[in-house]
Amino acid sequence: VASSASAQRIPGYLYDESKIASYTMLDPLRMENGKPVTNAAMWNAQRRPEILRLFEENEFGRTPDAARAAVMHAKIIERNDYALNGLAVREQIELTFDPAPGVTPPAEASRSMRLLLYVPHVQHPSPVVLGLNFLGNQSVVDDAGILPTPVWSKPKGSTALVHELPAESTRGSGAQQWQVEMLLKHGYGLATIYYGDLEPDFKDASQYSVRQLFDRPGAVQAQDAWGSLGAWAWGLSRAMDYLENDPLVDASHVAVTGHSRLGKAADWAAAQDTRFAALLSTESGHGGQSIQRRALGETVQHLEHSFPYWFCPAYAQWVGHDNEIPVDGNLLVALVAPRLLYVASAKEDEWSDPKGEFLSALSASSVYRLLGEKALPPDIPMPAVDTAIGFDGDVAYHERAGKHDVTSFDWEHYIVFLNRHWGDPETL
Ligand code: GCU
Repeated sequence: VASSASAQRIPGYLYDESKIASYTMLDPLRMENGKPVTNAAMWNAQRRPEILRLFEENEFGRTPDAARAAVMHAKIIERNDYALNGLAVREQIELTFDPAPGVTPPAEASRSMRLLLYVPHVQHPSPVVLGLNFLGNQSVVDDAGILPTPVWSKPKGSTALVHELPAESTRGSGAQQWQVEMLLKHGYGLATIYYGDLEPDFKDASQYSVRQLFDRPGAVQAQDAWGSLGAWAWGLSRAMDYLENDPLVDASHVAVTGHSRLGKAADWAAAQDTRFAALLSTESGHGGQSIQRRALGETVQHLEHSFPYWFCPAYAQWVGHDNEIPVDGNLLVALVAPRLLYVASAKEDEWSDPKGEFLSALSASSVYRLLGEKALPPDIPMPAVDTAIGFDGDVAYHERAGKHDVTSFDWEHYIVFLNRHWGDPETL
């Protein structure tokens, strides 16, 4: 599964704005019962928990209490204070989880994940960007010191999954999408985990998932049982548990990021876990930051058909009812308020519906304003391509030229946005 293979228009779906069926966006500031949300206390005590519950019941499923309470063991298995030619301190940490009391997971279930952490050599503790990666830790930068761990694949024509060490040639193969050296030179660290450590991204692969440590074997799957997006988001929060205790990291300045399906996981992690001080969400698209009600590009039908295991079983009821689903991208990113939010789109990524992503950022801004923060003003038009907006407030947006991807343009803008709010770590 490659993150960037899916950017093109898929035939049979709608891409023409003028043909969208009329739709009404959900209002983050209106309770399900119609009552307007008029102050911060009401947002925090009533509407925010209501929206979280709606996402648990209709899309991502519930993160089990036993998983939130998981016992985790951290072991630093490698450290180098002069990594990347002296630019960084590198740590590799094995994070291992105990099964919940009374649960005997299948032998093949994952029990651990490997965190790769870089912080600037010259200056730490540092703010850190945390994200899951698609291709293994060895892919994020060309660094011979990264200890590779097995990655999942399904060879063509085979039904069985393969879990084996990645080819040496994949070292740094995702470097363009991560820009580790750019981050370090600007005073930011990077923390990353291969998402397959938590659960392989394939249908019928749940026996390998870390979810098995917390779900009772044989129990009937509840309609709101968590899926792999829930597990990936959970892994980000467990990484945060670790980062909070690592003296290299300024844990009050951790931004969570992700691209595409891993953007959906980052969105859900930031929505649930308020320790993330910022969300940098790159083209998380439908089921993430886009407006599903527009059904422009991907539909719930497509998501359910191709990736049913990402979601809770109840999500299937919304197939063919994109317009009625009680949750949507604007509600999801609104849960990040009043923390920093950057919604990023790409012009040629029509499958993710850039305009829908923009409308989400705009709608979520109403919550920031209610909470007394500056955000995007209401009813502004979508900005020109490659023009970022919102840097004077807590909600930023851009649509860059090009395809479904993460590029240096995205990272440069993320860094400037974080600098505006957190101060430039280089000058501290
Ligand atoms: C597919 C999927 C999207 C997802 C993307 C990705 O295109 O339909 O919802 O965001 O893969 O993860 O690259």
